[in-house]
Amino acid sequence: MIIPGADTQAFAAALAEETGERLGRVEYERFADGEHVVRVPEAVEGERAVVVASTVDSDAHVQLLQLQDAVRETGASDVVTVLPYMGYARQDEAFKPGEPVSSRAMARAISTGTDRVITVNPHEPSVCDFFDVPTTHVDAAGLLADPLPEDLEDPLFLSPDEGAIDLPITARDAYGEGETDFFEKERDYDSGDIEITPSDADVAGRDVVLVDDIIATGSTMSESVAVLAERDARRIFVTCVHPMLASNALTKLSAAGVDAVYGTDTLERAVSEISAAPAVAAEL
Ligand code: R5P
Repeated sequence: MIIPGADTQAFAAALAEETGERLGRVEYERFADGEHVVRVPEAVEGERAVVVASTVDSDAHVQLLQLQDAVRETGASDVVTVLPYMGYARQDEAFKPGEPVSSRAMARAISTGTDRVITVNPHEPSVCDFFDVPTTHVDAAGLLADPLPEDLEDPLFLSPDEGAIDLPITARDAYGEGETDFFEKERDYDSGDIEITPSDADVAGRDVVLVDDIIATGSTMSESVAVLAERDARRIFVTCVHPMLASNALTKLSAAGVDAVYGTDTLERAVSEISAAPAVAAEL
């Protein structure tokens, strides 16, 4: 049975459709003191339970742990946890003295309630090693080409930093044509300011597709879009696996001159046009 987290209901429904497994109904409530309680009224007796929850915030983390416990309580034979978006994955080391390795702390907690974990494009694949149970990650980058127009002019697929270059390469391969390149990015961790150093690629008159794993505040992408607009790119498309789009990220992208923004449904947003559920279903 597929068991959805409150923030991941569309993804869970898509996964149920893909796999043919039943979609469980979950009740989500909060007590007056703010504590969560979830309820899975239909017993999962002797069946595999697939708990599907993007840990989009700390509340979602708590609900995920509760769902894992609830399905064990009602007799699930085994528990698979699908994290379409794994929160805290970007905190994959202690960046300053005294800080935790937060992704490890979260992974350990999640491991206690499951037999297996599947996630989609974690910020660094190495975070999978923090889980104490077998963990695999699915690459959804190839799907990012799906909503792009078929008539891209001399396309350039670009990542905003070198570390993410595999994403535009995979998206370009799926699209079928185009060059790839990357910008250099420096982030000031105290102010959050981003400085983008463009590559030498000539973008004037070309369609450019910026590809990244996540758009969070939108600073990385909007700075990159601004550089491309200044250099007379023909059209600028922005696509990512995880469209977190916190706060005013979409406004920043629009103001910078983006033509369209696309993301997958690992996070349920207005731009989540691409479903990563078939790729996860294949891994299940
Ligand atoms: C960083 O290495 C990631 O790949 C993203 O570029 C980054 O997390 C995006 O964050 P923001 O949207 O806040 O600039």
